[in-house]
Amino acid sequence: MIDVADNPTLALDDLQVRPAMAPSRFEPLAKEIFALKKQLNAVILAHNYQVPEIQEVADFVGDSLGLSQQAAKTSADVIVFCGVHFMAETAKILNPNKIVVLPDKDAGCSLEESCPAVKLAGLQKTNPNFWTIAYINCSAAVKALTDVICTSGNAVKIVQAAPKDKDILFVPDENLGQWVMEQTGRPMTLWQGNCYAHVEFRRDQVLQLREKFPDAKVVVHPESLREVRDLADAVRSTEGMITFCKTDPAKKFIVVTESGIIHRMQKECPGKEFLCAPSFDVKRLPSDHCRCSECKYMKMNTLEKVRDCMKRLAPRIELPAEILKRARLPIERMLEISARPI
Ligand code: 13P
Ligand code: SF4
Repeated sequence: MIDVADNPTLALDDLQVRPAMAPSRFEPLAKEIFALKKQLNAVILAHNYQVPEIQEVADFVGDSLGLSQQAAKTSADVIVFCGVHFMAETAKILNPNKIVVLPDKDAGCSLEESCPAVKLAGLQKTNPNFWTIAYINCSAAVKALTDVICTSGNAVKIVQAAPKDKDILFVPDENLGQWVMEQTGRPMTLWQGNCYAHVEFRRDQVLQLREKFPDAKVVVHPESLREVRDLADAVRSTEGMITFCKTDPAKKFIVVTESGIIHRMQKECPGKEFLCAPSFDVKRLPSDHCRCSECKYMKMNTLEKVRDCMKRLAPRIELPAEILKRARLPIERMLEISARPI
């Protein structure tokens, strides 16, 4: 953790992530969860933004790509998906005959909300030559309308693999889409959606932190605005951000994404320091500060809800057979392209 004592504009709470709770507080719940896991032959998959205590009981913690790869190969009967709704839906599409539960059924995503399937179908009709690439942060109904899915971890590779004679329609994240266009030089029509949490990060705030900590490297998630991505030493998926911090010789990192990621960074990079980029004007009074670097949806899941969804086998992900069938193809295409050698 950094010392903020010499900067009164930064409240300690704004830079520190939720500290790992004393293990004893969660021990009884964790024991119950491990017993249920055995009884149900369940696997617990958790996204990098989940609270530390959920990450600690998970069999696998990772980004959307890693979680999809795990879901595709699991032999468990029950998948407990600790993330948001579209992630659990993806696991269900890959495992139509397994039970998939999500601790909080309301754990959504602003990107998913921005792109209703009917609107996408309407836009697709305007150009029969569209090749639709959907960022995985979308509903199963949208996935069913697409040619291929991508995640932040493989978007560049997926776009590079798109047929050259097609016009790419990229949905629903315009910021990820812009970044991929910069990386590949391939023009794309972009859907106007964004992540409500990542667009709160601003250039001035990151610049102020970088001035204060000139030896810190800046790692940014590609859902962020271009003005912020342009300041980055590395733009990566959440898993890529962790790998960058592990392998880069720097000792200090300014982390521009959801603060849940700091738990793994601290655990896997001993001796290194991580500063959560504030998503507010650091010149304003601490009382004006918000904690926008937390995704309200990701934080709906709690360890209690993980236990409860395993006990009740609900909330359960159910999808119409036609959507399950149609949405599987673009996800499998993504997994196949991802596995190709570079
Ligand atoms: P990653 O696939 O990089 O983990 O991103 C998922 C996400 O929702 C980021 O906001
Ligand atoms: Fe969706 Fe943004 Fe939350 Fe990721 S951080 S799940 S993109 S709202």
